[in-house]
Amino acid sequence: MPSVPVTDTAALGEDRLSAAELAAVRADFPLLARTVRAGQPLIYLDTAATAQKPSCVLDAEQDFYTLRNAAVHRGAHALAEEATAAFEDARAAVAAFVGADEGEIVWTKNATEGLNLVAYAMSNAAAGRGGAAAQALAIGPGDEIVVTEAEHHANLVPWQELCARTGATLRWIGLDDQGRVDTSDLSMITEATRVVACTHASNVTGAITPVDQVVTAARAVGALVVLDACQSAAHLPLDLHALDVDFAVFSGHKMLGPTGIGALYGRRELLEAMPPVLTGGSMVEVVTMSETTYAPPPQRFEAGTQMVAQAIGLHSAVTYLSELGMTALAEHEAQLTRALLDGISQIEGVRILGPTTAEDRLAVVSFAVADVHPHDVGQVLDDAGIAARVGHHCAQPLHRRLGVHASTRVSAGVYTTPAEIEQFCTQLATVRPFFGRG
Ligand SMILES: Cc1ncc(COP(=O)(O)O)c(C=O)c1O
Repeated sequence: MPSVPVTDTAALGEDRLSAAELAAVRADFPLLARTVRAGQPLIYLDTAATAQKPSCVLDAEQDFYTLRNAAVHRGAHALAEEATAAFEDARAAVAAFVGADEGEIVWTKNATEGLNLVAYAMSNAAAGRGGAAAQALAIGPGDEIVVTEAEHHANLVPWQELCARTGATLRWIGLDDQGRVDTSDLSMITEATRVVACTHASNVTGAITPVDQVVTAARAVGALVVLDACQSAAHLPLDLHALDVDFAVFSGHKMLGPTGIGALYGRRELLEAMPPVLTGGSMVEVVTMSETTYAPPPQRFEAGTQMVAQAIGLHSAVTYLSELGMTALAEHEAQLTRALLDGISQIEGVRILGPTTAEDRLAVVSFAVADVHPHDVGQVLDDAGIAARVGHHCAQPLHRRLGVHASTRVSAGVYTTPAEIEQFCTQLATVRPFFGRG
Protein backbone atom coordinates (compact mmCIF):
# COMPACT_ATOMS: atom_id res chain seq x y z
CA MET A 1 0.00 0.00 0.00
CA PRO A 2 1.48 3.42 -0.91
CA SER A 3 2.27 5.67 2.00
CA VAL A 4 1.43 9.36 1.66
CA PRO A 5 3.90 11.36 3.74
CA VAL A 6 2.58 14.23 5.77
CA THR A 7 5.45 16.62 5.81
CA ASP A 8 4.39 20.21 6.10
CA THR A 9 4.83 20.92 9.77
CA ALA A 10 7.44 23.62 9.24
CA ALA A 11 5.11 26.50 9.93
CA LEU A 12 3.86 25.24 13.27
CA GLY A 13 3.23 27.78 15.98
CA GLU A 14 4.94 27.44 19.33
CA ASP A 15 1.72 27.12 21.28
CA ARG A 16 0.48 23.88 19.79
CA LEU A 17 -0.17 20.80 21.93
CA SER A 18 2.91 18.71 22.67
CA ALA A 19 2.88 14.99 21.83
CA ALA A 20 2.52 14.21 25.53
CA GLU A 21 -0.40 16.61 25.86
CA LEU A 22 -2.08 15.07 22.82
CA ALA A 23 -1.65 11.57 24.27
CA ALA A 24 -3.19 12.79 27.52
CA VAL A 25 -6.08 14.35 25.60
CA ARG A 26 -6.78 11.09 23.80
CA ALA A 27 -6.84 9.22 27.09
CA ASP A 28 -9.65 11.55 28.19
CA PHE A 29 -11.94 10.25 25.41
CA PRO A 30 -12.98 6.67 26.23
CA LEU A 31 -14.70 6.09 22.89
CA LEU A 32 -11.46 6.63 20.98
CA ALA A 33 -10.07 3.45 22.53
CA ARG A 34 -12.63 1.21 20.86
CA THR A 35 -12.09 -0.74 17.70
CA VAL A 36 -14.35 -1.06 14.66
CA ARG A 37 -14.65 -3.35 11.61
CA ALA A 38 -12.91 -6.49 12.77
CA GLY A 39 -10.80 -5.03 15.52
CA GLN A 40 -9.24 -2.07 13.74
CA PRO A 41 -8.46 1.08 15.73
CA LEU A 42 -11.09 3.75 15.15
CA ILE A 43 -9.93 6.83 13.26
CA TYR A 44 -12.67 9.34 13.93
CA LEU A 45 -12.65 12.06 11.25
CA ASP A 46 -16.26 13.21 11.60
CA THR A 47 -15.90 15.82 14.32
CA ALA A 48 -17.64 18.49 12.21
CA ALA A 49 -20.80 16.36 12.44
CA THR A 50 -20.45 15.73 16.16
CA ALA A 51 -17.47 15.67 18.49
CA GLN A 52 -16.55 12.84 20.84
CA LYS A 53 -16.93 13.50 24.57
CA PRO A 54 -14.25 13.54 27.27
CA SER A 55 -14.86 11.62 30.51
CA CYS A 56 -15.36 14.84 32.45
CA VAL A 57 -18.48 15.60 30.37
CA LEU A 58 -19.84 12.08 30.84
CA ASP A 59 -19.11 12.30 34.58
CA ALA A 60 -20.75 15.72 34.91
CA GLU A 61 -24.01 14.42 33.46
CA GLN A 62 -23.87 11.26 35.54
CA ASP A 63 -23.16 13.23 38.73
CA PHE A 64 -26.12 15.48 38.05
CA TYR A 65 -28.52 12.56 37.69
CA THR A 66 -26.93 10.66 40.57
CA LEU A 67 -26.81 13.49 43.09
CA ARG A 68 -28.73 16.63 42.13
CA ASN A 69 -31.47 15.81 39.63
CA ALA A 70 -34.33 18.33 39.88
CA ALA A 71 -36.22 20.74 37.64
CA VAL A 72 -34.75 24.23 37.66
CA HIS A 73 -36.32 27.59 38.53
CA ARG A 74 -39.36 25.90 40.08
CA GLY A 75 -38.85 24.09 43.36
CA ALA A 76 -38.11 25.53 46.80
CA HIS A 77 -36.27 22.40 47.94
CA ALA A 78 -32.55 21.81 48.31
CA LEU A 79 -32.15 19.76 45.13
CA ALA A 80 -33.99 22.34 43.04
CA GLU A 81 -31.75 25.07 44.42
CA GLU A 82 -28.61 23.10 43.64
CA ALA A 83 -29.81 22.19 40.16
CA THR A 84 -30.77 25.80 39.43
CA ALA A 85 -27.39 27.06 40.62
CA ALA A 86 -25.56 24.51 38.45
CA PHE A 87 -27.74 25.35 35.45
CA GLU A 88 -27.07 29.08 35.79
CA ASP A 89 -23.35 28.50 36.47
CA ALA A 90 -23.27 26.65 33.17
CA ARG A 91 -24.81 29.62 31.42
CA ALA A 92 -22.20 31.94 32.92
CA ALA A 93 -19.35 29.62 31.90
CA VAL A 94 -20.60 29.22 28.32
CA ALA A 95 -21.15 32.98 28.06
CA ALA A 96 -17.58 33.64 29.20
CA PHE A 97 -16.27 31.01 26.77
CA VAL A 98 -17.81 32.80 23.75
CA GLY A 99 -17.16 36.36 24.95
CA ALA A 100 -20.73 37.20 25.96
CA ASP A 101 -22.59 38.22 29.11
CA GLU A 102 -24.56 35.67 31.04
CA GLY A 103 -27.94 37.29 30.29
CA GLU A 104 -27.21 37.13 26.57
CA ILE A 105 -27.16 33.33 26.37
CA VAL A 106 -30.46 31.54 25.69
CA TRP A 107 -30.38 27.77 25.94
CA THR A 108 -31.68 26.00 22.87
CA LYS A 109 -31.71 22.39 21.73
CA ASN A 110 -29.04 23.13 19.10
CA ALA A 111 -27.93 25.76 16.59
CA THR A 112 -30.82 24.95 14.27
CA GLU A 113 -33.30 25.81 16.99
CA GLY A 114 -31.46 29.06 17.75
CA LEU A 115 -31.67 30.22 14.12
CA ASN A 116 -35.35 29.29 13.89
CA LEU A 117 -35.96 31.11 17.16
CA VAL A 118 -34.64 34.39 15.75
CA ALA A 119 -36.50 33.97 12.45
CA TYR A 120 -39.83 33.11 14.14
CA ALA A 121 -39.43 35.95 16.64
CA MET A 122 -39.08 38.33 13.69
CA SER A 123 -42.30 37.16 12.08
CA ASN A 124 -44.04 37.27 15.47
CA ALA A 125 -42.86 40.88 15.75
CA ALA A 126 -44.22 41.50 12.23
CA ALA A 127 -47.56 40.10 13.42
CA GLY A 128 -47.59 42.71 16.18
CA ARG A 129 -46.43 40.47 19.03
CA GLY A 130 -44.10 42.10 21.54
CA GLY A 131 -45.59 45.57 21.13
CA ALA A 132 -43.76 48.68 20.04
CA ALA A 133 -40.38 47.52 21.38
CA ALA A 134 -40.40 44.53 19.03
CA GLN A 135 -41.04 46.60 15.92
CA ALA A 136 -37.30 47.02 15.38
CA LEU A 137 -37.29 43.29 14.64
CA ALA A 138 -40.41 43.20 12.44
CA ILE A 139 -39.83 42.13 8.83
CA GLY A 140 -42.18 42.65 5.91
CA PRO A 141 -42.55 43.23 2.15
CA GLY A 142 -39.75 45.43 0.79
CA ASP A 143 -37.32 44.19 3.44
CA GLU A 144 -34.43 41.95 2.45
CA ILE A 145 -32.49 39.22 4.18
CA VAL A 146 -28.98 38.40 2.97
CA VAL A 147 -27.31 35.01 3.46
CA THR A 148 -24.30 33.45 1.72
CA GLU A 149 -24.03 30.62 -0.76
CA ALA A 150 -21.90 28.74 1.79
CA GLU A 151 -24.63 28.23 4.38
CA HIS A 152 -25.61 25.01 6.08
CA HIS A 153 -29.34 24.49 5.48
CA ALA A 154 -29.88 25.47 9.13
CA ASN A 155 -28.87 29.04 8.26
CA LEU A 156 -30.74 29.15 4.96
CA VAL A 157 -34.11 27.40 5.22
CA PRO A 158 -35.34 29.36 8.30
CA TRP A 159 -34.68 32.62 6.38
CA GLN A 160 -36.43 31.29 3.25
CA GLU A 161 -39.38 30.42 5.49
CA LEU A 162 -39.29 33.84 7.16
CA CYS A 163 -39.43 35.48 3.72
CA ALA A 164 -42.36 33.24 2.72
CA ARG A 165 -44.25 34.16 5.91
CA THR A 166 -43.62 37.91 5.72
CA GLY A 167 -43.17 38.85 2.04
CA ALA A 168 -39.52 39.82 2.56
CA THR A 169 -36.94 38.93 -0.13
CA LEU A 170 -33.91 36.65 0.22
CA ARG A 171 -30.60 37.62 -1.38
CA TRP A 172 -27.17 36.06 -1.06
CA ILE A 173 -23.46 36.74 -1.17
CA GLY A 174 -21.64 34.56 -3.71
CA LEU A 175 -18.38 32.64 -3.43
CA ASP A 176 -15.01 33.40 -4.97
CA ASP A 177 -12.96 30.97 -7.07
CA GLN A 178 -11.55 29.32 -3.95
CA GLY A 179 -15.03 28.67 -2.57
CA ARG A 180 -14.72 31.39 0.07
CA VAL A 181 -17.51 33.87 0.84
CA ASP A 182 -16.76 36.66 -1.65
CA THR A 183 -16.65 39.80 0.45
CA SER A 184 -15.23 41.76 -2.48
CA ASP A 185 -18.83 42.12 -3.68
CA LEU A 186 -21.25 42.98 -0.91
CA SER A 187 -23.45 45.11 -3.17
CA MET A 188 -26.48 43.01 -2.27
CA ILE A 189 -26.35 44.53 1.24
CA THR A 190 -28.40 47.70 0.76
CA GLU A 191 -30.70 50.06 2.65
CA ALA A 192 -33.40 47.38 2.23
CA THR A 193 -31.34 44.78 4.11
CA ARG A 194 -32.63 44.00 7.60
CA VAL A 195 -30.60 40.89 8.40
CA VAL A 196 -27.29 39.47 7.20
CA ALA A 197 -26.97 35.82 8.27
CA CYS A 198 -23.65 34.15 7.59
CA THR A 199 -21.58 31.24 8.68
CA HIS A 200 -18.40 31.83 10.66
CA ALA A 201 -16.79 28.75 9.11
CA SER A 202 -18.15 26.47 6.40
CA ASN A 203 -18.96 22.91 7.38
CA VAL A 204 -17.98 21.83 3.85
CA THR A 205 -14.91 23.85 2.85
CA GLY A 206 -13.70 24.82 6.33
CA ALA A 207 -13.28 28.40 5.04
CA ILE A 208 -13.55 31.12 7.67
CA THR A 209 -15.70 34.10 6.70
CA PRO A 210 -14.16 37.56 7.19
CA VAL A 211 -16.91 38.49 9.63
CA ASP A 212 -15.54 41.99 10.20
CA GLN A 213 -16.22 42.91 6.56
CA VAL A 214 -19.74 41.56 6.70
CA VAL A 215 -20.40 43.41 9.97
CA THR A 216 -19.07 46.69 8.54
CA ALA A 217 -21.32 46.41 5.48
CA ALA A 218 -24.35 45.47 7.61
CA ARG A 219 -23.74 48.26 10.15
CA ALA A 220 -23.50 50.81 7.33
CA VAL A 221 -27.15 50.12 6.43
CA GLY A 222 -28.45 49.36 9.94
CA ALA A 223 -28.92 45.62 9.32
CA LEU A 224 -28.60 42.97 12.02
CA VAL A 225 -25.87 40.32 11.77
CA VAL A 226 -26.65 36.70 12.68
CA LEU A 227 -23.57 34.49 12.95
CA ASP A 228 -23.65 30.72 12.63
CA ALA A 229 -20.73 29.81 14.90
CA CYS A 230 -21.54 26.11 14.87
CA GLN A 231 -18.24 25.03 13.32
CA SER A 232 -16.01 27.68 14.85
CA ALA A 233 -17.06 27.67 18.52
CA ALA A 234 -14.91 24.70 19.55
CA HIS A 235 -12.04 25.31 17.14
CA LEU A 236 -11.15 29.00 17.39
CA PRO A 237 -10.95 31.42 20.30
CA LEU A 238 -14.36 33.11 20.01
CA ASP A 239 -15.27 36.60 21.24
CA LEU A 240 -18.78 37.52 20.16
CA HIS A 241 -18.58 41.01 21.65
CA ALA A 242 -15.38 41.70 19.75
CA LEU A 243 -16.93 40.33 16.54
CA ASP A 244 -19.76 42.79 17.17
CA VAL A 245 -22.51 40.51 15.84
CA ASP A 246 -26.12 40.82 17.00
CA PHE A 247 -27.03 37.16 17.27
CA ALA A 248 -24.97 33.97 17.14
CA VAL A 249 -25.72 30.28 17.50
CA PHE A 250 -23.76 27.14 18.33
CA SER A 251 -24.41 23.51 19.29
CA GLY A 252 -23.00 21.80 22.38
CA HIS A 253 -22.51 18.43 20.71
CA LYS A 254 -19.93 19.91 18.31
CA MET A 255 -18.02 21.38 21.28
CA LEU A 256 -17.28 18.11 23.15
CA GLY A 257 -20.57 18.58 25.00
CA PRO A 258 -23.79 16.57 25.05
CA THR A 259 -26.48 16.49 22.38
CA GLY A 260 -29.72 18.32 23.15
CA ILE A 261 -28.07 21.59 24.21
CA GLY A 262 -27.01 24.63 22.24
CA ALA A 263 -27.26 28.35 22.61
CA LEU A 264 -28.51 31.49 20.99
CA TYR A 265 -26.46 34.57 21.79
CA GLY A 266 -28.33 37.86 21.43
CA ARG A 267 -27.31 41.40 22.26
CA ARG A 268 -29.11 42.19 25.49
CA GLU A 269 -31.28 45.03 24.13
CA LEU A 270 -32.36 42.88 21.19
CA LEU A 271 -33.32 39.96 23.42
CA GLU A 272 -35.22 42.38 25.63
CA ALA A 273 -37.21 43.63 22.63
CA MET A 274 -37.77 40.21 21.09
CA PRO A 275 -41.17 38.48 21.41
CA PRO A 276 -41.19 34.84 22.52
CA VAL A 277 -41.58 31.92 20.14
CA LEU A 278 -42.24 28.83 22.25
CA THR A 279 -44.73 29.66 24.97
CA GLY A 280 -45.91 27.83 28.08
CA GLY A 281 -44.46 27.21 31.52
CA SER A 282 -41.39 28.93 32.99
CA MET A 283 -41.29 31.84 30.53
CA VAL A 284 -44.06 33.97 32.05
CA GLU A 285 -44.62 36.63 34.68
CA VAL A 286 -48.40 36.88 35.13
CA VAL A 287 -50.95 34.61 33.48
CA THR A 288 -54.72 35.17 33.54
CA MET A 289 -57.34 33.24 31.61
CA SER A 290 -57.18 35.78 28.81
CA GLU A 291 -53.58 37.03 28.67
CA THR A 292 -49.98 36.65 29.77
CA THR A 293 -46.99 38.84 30.46
CA TYR A 294 -43.58 37.39 29.75
CA ALA A 295 -40.43 36.96 31.81
CA PRO A 296 -37.32 38.93 30.86
CA PRO A 297 -34.70 37.20 28.70
CA PRO A 298 -33.21 34.66 28.70
CA GLN A 299 -36.11 32.86 30.50
CA ARG A 300 -38.60 34.38 28.02
CA PHE A 301 -37.15 32.07 25.38
CA GLU A 302 -36.82 28.97 27.56
CA ALA A 303 -40.33 27.54 27.79
CA GLY A 304 -40.88 24.19 29.49
CA THR A 305 -38.64 21.91 31.52
CA GLN A 306 -35.05 22.62 30.63
CA MET A 307 -32.15 20.37 29.60
CA VAL A 308 -30.27 20.71 32.86
CA ALA A 309 -27.91 17.74 32.66
CA GLN A 310 -26.91 18.75 29.15
CA ALA A 311 -26.16 22.34 30.23
CA ILE A 312 -23.99 20.99 33.04
CA GLY A 313 -22.26 18.66 30.58
CA LEU A 314 -21.59 21.61 28.26
CA HIS A 315 -20.18 23.56 31.21
CA SER A 316 -17.71 20.74 31.73
CA ALA A 317 -16.87 20.70 28.00
CA VAL A 318 -16.06 24.42 27.80
CA THR A 319 -14.02 24.16 31.00
CA TYR A 320 -12.06 21.31 29.41
CA LEU A 321 -11.49 23.34 26.22
CA SER A 322 -10.47 26.44 28.19
CA GLU A 323 -8.00 24.48 30.29
CA LEU A 324 -6.39 23.08 27.15
CA GLY A 325 -6.30 26.60 25.76
CA MET A 326 -8.13 27.56 22.60
CA THR A 327 -4.98 28.99 21.02
CA ALA A 328 -3.05 25.75 21.53
CA LEU A 329 -6.03 23.80 20.24
CA ALA A 330 -6.33 26.01 17.14
CA GLU A 331 -2.58 25.58 16.50
CA HIS A 332 -2.89 21.81 16.83
CA GLU A 333 -5.77 21.77 14.39
CA ALA A 334 -3.94 24.10 11.98
CA GLN A 335 -1.14 21.53 11.90
CA LEU A 336 -3.71 18.86 11.04
CA THR A 337 -5.22 21.09 8.34
CA ARG A 338 -1.84 21.50 6.67
CA ALA A 339 -1.28 17.76 6.87
CA LEU A 340 -4.68 17.03 5.36
CA LEU A 341 -4.28 19.50 2.49
CA ASP A 342 -0.74 18.35 1.86
CA GLY A 343 -1.64 14.67 1.88
CA ILE A 344 -4.87 14.86 -0.13
CA SER A 345 -3.41 17.13 -2.80
CA GLN A 346 -0.74 14.50 -3.56
CA ILE A 347 -3.35 11.91 -4.53
CA GLU A 348 -4.18 11.77 -8.22
CA GLY A 349 -7.81 12.25 -9.17
CA VAL A 350 -8.83 13.82 -5.87
CA ARG A 351 -10.11 17.39 -5.91
CA ILE A 352 -10.30 19.42 -2.72
CA LEU A 353 -13.49 21.48 -2.58
CA GLY A 354 -12.78 24.97 -1.35
CA PRO A 355 -9.50 26.58 -0.31
CA THR A 356 -6.41 24.44 -0.85
CA THR A 357 -4.22 26.48 1.46
CA ALA A 358 -4.34 26.41 5.23
CA GLU A 359 -4.89 30.14 5.88
CA ASP A 360 -8.23 31.16 7.34
CA ARG A 361 -9.73 27.72 7.35
CA LEU A 362 -10.50 24.94 9.78
CA ALA A 363 -9.50 21.27 9.72
CA VAL A 364 -12.64 20.41 7.72
CA VAL A 365 -11.80 19.18 4.23
CA SER A 366 -14.29 17.94 1.64
CA PHE A 367 -13.16 16.41 -1.61
CA ALA A 368 -14.39 14.66 -4.74
CA VAL A 369 -12.72 11.53 -6.06
CA ALA A 370 -12.91 11.34 -9.86
CA ASP A 371 -15.28 8.64 -11.11
CA VAL A 372 -15.99 7.28 -7.62
CA HIS A 373 -19.22 8.02 -5.76
CA PRO A 374 -18.70 9.52 -2.26
CA HIS A 375 -20.59 6.61 -0.72
CA ASP A 376 -18.07 4.21 -2.23
CA VAL A 377 -15.21 6.38 -0.97
CA GLY A 378 -16.77 6.33 2.50
CA GLN A 379 -17.04 2.56 2.38
CA VAL A 380 -13.37 2.05 1.50
CA LEU A 381 -12.40 4.38 4.34
CA ASP A 382 -14.79 2.69 6.76
CA ASP A 383 -13.34 -0.72 5.87
CA ALA A 384 -10.09 0.63 7.34
CA GLY A 385 -11.79 1.93 10.49
CA ILE A 386 -11.91 5.53 9.28
CA ALA A 387 -15.11 7.45 10.01
CA ALA A 388 -15.70 10.11 7.34
CA ARG A 389 -18.90 11.81 6.26
CA VAL A 390 -20.42 11.42 2.79
CA GLY A 391 -23.27 13.27 1.09
CA HIS A 392 -24.11 16.96 0.76
CA HIS A 393 -23.49 17.75 4.45
CA CYS A 394 -26.73 19.78 4.60
CA ALA A 395 -25.29 22.27 2.11
CA GLN A 396 -26.81 21.51 -1.27
CA PRO A 397 -26.47 25.02 -2.77
CA LEU A 398 -22.79 25.09 -1.84
CA HIS A 399 -22.17 21.72 -3.48
CA ARG A 400 -24.05 22.85 -6.58
CA ARG A 401 -21.88 25.99 -6.70
CA LEU A 402 -18.75 23.82 -6.43
CA GLY A 403 -19.99 21.71 -9.32
CA VAL A 404 -20.71 18.45 -7.48
CA HIS A 405 -23.80 16.79 -5.99
CA ALA A 406 -22.03 15.32 -3.01
CA SER A 407 -18.61 14.88 -1.47
CA THR A 408 -16.61 13.05 1.15
CA ARG A 409 -15.65 15.11 4.18
CA VAL A 410 -13.03 14.56 6.84
CA SER A 411 -12.86 16.77 9.89
CA ALA A 412 -10.42 16.72 12.76
CA GLY A 413 -10.72 17.64 16.41
CA VAL A 414 -8.54 18.27 19.40
CA TYR A 415 -7.99 14.51 19.80
CA THR A 416 -6.94 13.85 16.18
CA THR A 417 -3.29 12.90 15.66
CA PRO A 418 -0.98 13.58 12.69
CA ALA A 419 -0.52 9.79 12.44
CA GLU A 420 -4.26 9.37 11.91
CA ILE A 421 -4.20 11.93 9.10
CA GLU A 422 -1.34 10.04 7.50
CA GLN A 423 -3.24 6.73 7.75
CA PHE A 424 -6.31 8.38 6.24
CA CYS A 425 -4.30 9.77 3.30
CA THR A 426 -2.71 6.38 2.73
CA GLN A 427 -6.14 4.74 2.63
CA LEU A 428 -7.59 7.45 0.39
CA ALA A 429 -4.82 6.78 -2.11
CA THR A 430 -6.16 3.22 -2.50
CA VAL A 431 -9.68 4.28 -3.46
CA ARG A 432 -9.30 4.90 -7.20
CA PRO A 433 -7.06 1.86 -7.77
CA PHE A 434 -9.57 -0.25 -5.78
CA PHE A 435 -12.32 0.71 -8.25
CA GLY A 436 -10.01 0.30 -11.23
CA ARG A 437 -9.91 4.05 -11.84
CA GLY A 438 -6.25 4.84 -11.55
C1 LIG B 1 -22.23 25.35 9.94
C2 LIG B 1 -23.37 24.62 10.61
N1 LIG B 1 -24.45 25.30 10.97
C3 LIG B 1 -25.49 24.72 11.58
C4 LIG B 1 -25.47 23.38 11.86
C5 LIG B 1 -26.64 22.76 12.55
O1 LIG B 1 -26.26 22.24 13.78
P1 LIG B 1 -27.27 21.36 14.62
O2 LIG B 1 -27.66 20.22 13.72
O3 LIG B 1 -26.50 20.94 15.80
O4 LIG B 1 -28.43 22.25 14.94
C6 LIG B 1 -24.36 22.61 11.50
C7 LIG B 1 -24.33 21.15 11.74
O5 LIG B 1 -23.65 20.43 11.07
C8 LIG B 1 -23.27 23.25 10.87
O6 LIG B 1 -22.17 22.59 10.53
